[in-house]
Amino acid sequence: MVPEVVTTSEPLDVLSGTVVVPVVPEYRSDEGAPAGDEGARVWLERAARAVGVSGRAGHTAVSLAPPGWRAERLILAGTGVPAQRTVHDLRRVAALTAKQVAEVGGGTLVWPVLTVPGVPIETVVQAIVEGVGLANYRFHRYRSADAAPRVERLVIAGTGPSVEAGVRRGRIVADAVRFARDLTNEPGNVLDPEHLSGIAWEVAQDVGLQCSVYDRASLEELGAGAILAVGQGSRREPRLIHLVYRPEARPARRIALVGKAVTFDSGGLSLKPADGMERMKGDMAGGAAVLAVLRALPALGVPVEVHGIVAAAENMPDGDAFRPGDIVRTLSGKTVEVISTDAEGRLLLADALTFAVQHDAELLVDVATLTGACAVALGRGGSGLFASDEQARLLFLRAAEETGERVWPLPLWDEYRELLRSEHADLKNTAGRWGGAINAALFLREFTAGRPWLHLDIAGPAWAESAGPFGPAGATGHAVRTLLRFVELWAAEERRGEARR
Ligand code: BES
Ligand code: MN
Ligand code: ZN
Repeated sequence: MVPEVVTTSEPLDVLSGTVVVPVVPEYRSDEGAPAGDEGARVWLERAARAVGVSGRAGHTAVSLAPPGWRAERLILAGTGVPAQRTVHDLRRVAALTAKQVAEVGGGTLVWPVLTVPGVPIETVVQAIVEGVGLANYRFHRYRSADAAPRVERLVIAGTGPSVEAGVRRGRIVADAVRFARDLTNEPGNVLDPEHLSGIAWEVAQDVGLQCSVYDRASLEELGAGAILAVGQGSRREPRLIHLVYRPEARPARRIALVGKAVTFDSGGLSLKPADGMERMKGDMAGGAAVLAVLRALPALGVPVEVHGIVAAAENMPDGDAFRPGDIVRTLSGKTVEVISTDAEGRLLLADALTFAVQHDAELLVDVATLTGACAVALGRGGSGLFASDEQARLLFLRAAEETGERVWPLPLWDEYRELLRSEHADLKNTAGRWGGAINAALFLREFTAGRPWLHLDIAGPAWAESAGPFGPAGATGHAVRTLLRFVELWAAEERRGEARR
């Protein structure tokens, strides 16, 4: 579904398919016509006026191609003045053009290589490929007739090593997001913890990762009482998935990416309301993001060791289900009193974070559709970032800034820790009505053994109620792009640090 991408040195006028022609404000199109073709330039500017595309970034329209051009049609695409446009503008415009191609029946889309001041060509091309790749996504495998038209082929009208590198990176990243969306959109009856671990295993074989899977018996042996408790009400048993990416250059420093994968969250005995419960098949978006990132790392060749740790369970009410009032012994040894069986994600993550500590990760990063409260606070647009380490927080925000995914910092206020006190255990798993996202994060912090740690609550943006420029309704793959970028930035930072030492 990420289309085939090719590059060419041919000028736009001889390329067939749907050709994107940039329009800058005042209906000008200096970047569109082949150099010296004054006739085409005038034609394009008249066409831009005719369809009302003045050049504002994001405003696009389909038009006829100038006489003598081979293209079936053009998309006149507002891209803003070159001095002001951003790579985010281009990613979004690229996505919009993909959508327009789908509307006119699909086929080939041709994009020229534009410039963004201060941004390497590689990054610009990557953004275009990402935009098209993300917008082109569909989850139609359960539709009997999938005739939905889309971009089959993306032609980048430009050549050279930076263009090639941008295409390659764009494809890797878009494919990673597609993979995470596919997993998240899969229904609970198909994708249970065992199936997910099977997919992780296959991925590991395909791209060259180490993979271990803990089933119920081995989780018992390990002592992962929290994962077991969450999974015990389902006939589909829980799994802990551990993937390791080791770079060629060793020894490298070590980071753990930890994901919540509740393949279906009914709430358990603290049953959720029926309305909207179907969306809880997507309660494994964090785990899906972690798997997608690990899957992409070998191709990107990042020089750090990355552990992907995914705690997978189905949360169901049943005669064997865990109950409110139960006291669970976690892998860390700490005991937790279960107040709500619907606060299951933090239980899974408690054991998964401890597992990451046991594997001596220097930095822990967890991703989870953890709290409705976080979605209430920030809306569907972005995720909440909690950090016990200021440097890691700044680096993560920088990664998000580069990818255009919205991530916003939220506080870990120590006073609220009191609210998690339990009468009979070390902790309880909920802390009342207010500040739900913060309380959940404070709960998780108890299992990080004081290590530098980031927690990303993606409950809002993991799922889209309606189609947007970057994809249809359903799973969004939020955080995959930022996590990938973050790992790269962290690797670069660590290397600089080593050079200083
Ligand atoms: N998976 C949910 C959080 C969620 C809600 C994700 C809406 C996406 C959309 C999580 O397991 C949950 O149920 N959290 C509870 C916590 C509460 C019981 C303290 C919540 O947010 O209501
Ligand atoms: Mn829940
Ligand atoms: Zn959940």
